[in-house]
Amino acid sequence: MTKLAGRVALVTGGARGLGAAAARALAAEGAKVVISDIGDGTETAASIGGAYIKHDVTSEPDWVAAVAFTKKTFGGLDILVNNAGIFWVRPIAMTTLEDFKRMQAVNVDGVFLGMKHAIPAIAERSQQWEGGGSIVNISSVAGLVGAANLISYNASKGAVRLMTKSAALECAEQKLKIRVNSIHPGMIDTDMMRGAATLMAKVAGTDLDTERARMAKRHPLGRVGKDTDVADAVLFLASDASAFMTGSEVVVDGGMTAN
Ligand SMILES: NC(=O)c1ccc[n+]([C@@H]2O[C@H](COP(=O)([O-])OP(=O)(O)OC[C@H]3O[C@@H](n4cnc5c(N)ncnc54)[C@H](O)[C@@H]3O)[C@@H](O)[C@H]2O)c1
Repeated sequence: MTKLAGRVALVTGGARGLGAAAARALAAEGAKVVISDIGDGTETAASIGGAYIKHDVTSEPDWVAAVAFTKKTFGGLDILVNNAGIFWVRPIAMTTLEDFKRMQAVNVDGVFLGMKHAIPAIAERSQQWEGGGSIVNISSVAGLVGAANLISYNASKGAVRLMTKSAALECAEQKLKIRVNSIHPGMIDTDMMRGAATLMAKVAGTDLDTERARMAKRHPLGRVGKDTDVADAVLFLASDASAFMTGSEVVVDGGMTAN
C-alpha cells in the first residue's frame, strides 16, 4: 500500500533540484503532484505523471492560480512543499537594499503567500487523513546558524524557521488538522550548490573539485547531501508517519550543525 494514495501535493520550485526530487518521492508513494516553477517544469511533471503550472512565488495572483489549478486538476490539495528559493553569497557592504529585498521576496514572501493560500484549500479535506494535511517549508542550516557573507540568506531562512512554528500553532489552535514543519538541509548537490561552489572556486583561485571537497569536509559524515536525502525527509513529513509532528525542525545536514 502506498503511503500517499489519494493525496494531492503542490511543490514549488519543482522543476529541478530538491523540488524535483521531492516531487518524485511523493509521486512514487502515490500522490498526485503539481509542480510549480518560474522556469519550465513540463518535463519533470510529465516524468512523474504530474502537472505543471508556471508560477512566481512572489506573486499573490500566481498563488491563487496555482492553488485553483491544483484543485481543478486533481480534485483538492493536501500537501504543500514550499521549496522555491534563491541563494547568493555577498558581504553586507556589497549587498544593496534591492538585493536584500529580492531574497526576502522569494524566500520569505513566497512561503508566507503559500501558507496563506494553501491552508484554506488543505483544510477542506484534512480531517479525512490520519495525519491531516501537511505543509513542509524548506529552510536551511542557514536558518539555524549564521555565516559570514550570508546576511540576506540567513535573514530569509531564519524567518522561514519561525514562520513555520507560528503557522503550526495557528493551525493547531484552529483545529484545522494541518501540520507545518521545516527542513534544514546542509549543502546538497544541486544546481544551486554547484553555482556556489563555482563562485567560491573563482574567488579562491581554486577549482570546482577543490571546493566540492572543502564543502564535503564541513559535514561530519564526510560528504555533501544528495537530493534524495532531503526528499526522504519531505516524504516523512508529508505522510502519516509524522502524524504527531508539527512546528518541528528536521535537520538534514550530515551533522554539520551538531557541534
Ligand atoms: N542545495 C542546497 O545546498 C540547499 C541547502 C539548504 C537549503 N536549500 C533550499 O532548498 C530549496 C531548493 O534549492 P535547490 O538547491 O533545489 O535550488 P535550485 O536553484 O537547484 O532550484 C530552485 C528552483 O526554484 C525555482 N525558483 C526560483 N525562484 C522562483 C520563484 N520566484 N518562483 C518560483 N520558482 C522559483 C527555480 O526556477 C528552480 O527550479 C531552496 O529553498 C534552497 O534555499 C538548498
